[in-house]
Amino acid sequence: MTLQDSPFLRACRRLPVSHTPVWFMRQAGRSLPEYRRVRADVPMLEACARPDMITEITMQPVRRYDVDAAIFFSDIVVPLKAIGIDLDIKPGVGPVVEEPIRDASDIKRLRDLEPDDVPYVTEAVGRLVEELGDKPLIGFAGAPFTLASYLIEGGPSKNHEHTKALMYGEPELWDELMRRLASITLGFLKTQIAAGASAIQLFDSWVGALSAEDYRASVLPYTSWIFGQLADHEVPRIHFGVGTGELLGLLGEAGADVVGVDWRVPLDKAAQRVQPGIALQGNLDPATLFAPWEVVADRTRDILSRGRAAEGHIFNLGHGVLPTTDPTMLERLTAFVHEETAV
Ligand code: CP3
Repeated sequence: MTLQDSPFLRACRRLPVSHTPVWFMRQAGRSLPEYRRVRADVPMLEACARPDMITEITMQPVRRYDVDAAIFFSDIVVPLKAIGIDLDIKPGVGPVVEEPIRDASDIKRLRDLEPDDVPYVTEAVGRLVEELGDKPLIGFAGAPFTLASYLIEGGPSKNHEHTKALMYGEPELWDELMRRLASITLGFLKTQIAAGASAIQLFDSWVGALSAEDYRASVLPYTSWIFGQLADHEVPRIHFGVGTGELLGLLGEAGADVVGVDWRVPLDKAAQRVQPGIALQGNLDPATLFAPWEVVADRTRDILSRGRAAEGHIFNLGHGVLPTTDPTMLERLTAFVHEETAV
């Protein structure tokens, strides 16, 4: 097998596969004891800047689960930190921004990202691509809306009120902010692609907070621009957000090759909501992994069956692995999907 023939890349391109490929969002992380060990004395953002740690942590779930793709270990706020935004990732909280971005002069702090700003990314991707061989490495970035929310709110937010206030009330400022963030996001993705990542996922985790109309007017143009700029790079583009049942068609319209679906919309319904020519990724509720195995198996069979309505299916959870998940469940689940779908 070659990298380009891997089930993951074939499914992204809607080609027949020898088994349904599997990977898990947040497959590297606190659910793994080996992760907790290497991270014990190293703050999250420091780990994200050390090629040795990035490489080791990215490989941990690949060794343990036999997943069909690795996802680069980093965080959506790494490029923001790299251009000098004063932020940290607080354990159990998430990204926290020292001085939130709220006005025109704040926005000027957002400059473009150059590959030289993140040399550790280039180095770690290079090492990983070599170590992974025919297994794809997925690069990723946060999408402008989700990044804007952290920057404007100053941290995680339930209602995104300051973000929406700026979006609804100051459209010119919003446009300038989203343009700058789109450019930073593109820079981060291009850096990973140039170093050898063979697919990318754009996470717009919190965009499900918007109506379709607001998404179309205030988010779609910037995401479309990012995907458009990547069109010539020939790497599949995956797009995912939580609670995006009403937005699935628009996420595809933005220019994704694969749309990630959370657990709220069955995949056969999701297939009707995206236009032809798009593969789907998903969508087991991560909390299911706390139920008995029989429940996991039944629900997985159902997802695989509904996934046949899509032009291509990559099995994943509907959002990230929860930190207290039993890793043996993920190991069993990976093997189960492979067995059930082997041709
Ligand atoms: O998926 C992977 O295994 C790759 C690594 C990855 C991380 N963050 C590592 C991480 C990826 C793809 C991300 C993306 C990310 N970061 C997103 C989009 C994906 C999603 O979940 O919707 C978002 C919204 C963030 C922001 C962020 N960073 C959050 C919400 C948190 C968790 C806060 C907490 O402690 O519960 C982080 C920190 C973070 N990013 C951790 C990891 C492994 C935990 C750090 C730790 O070990 O303490």
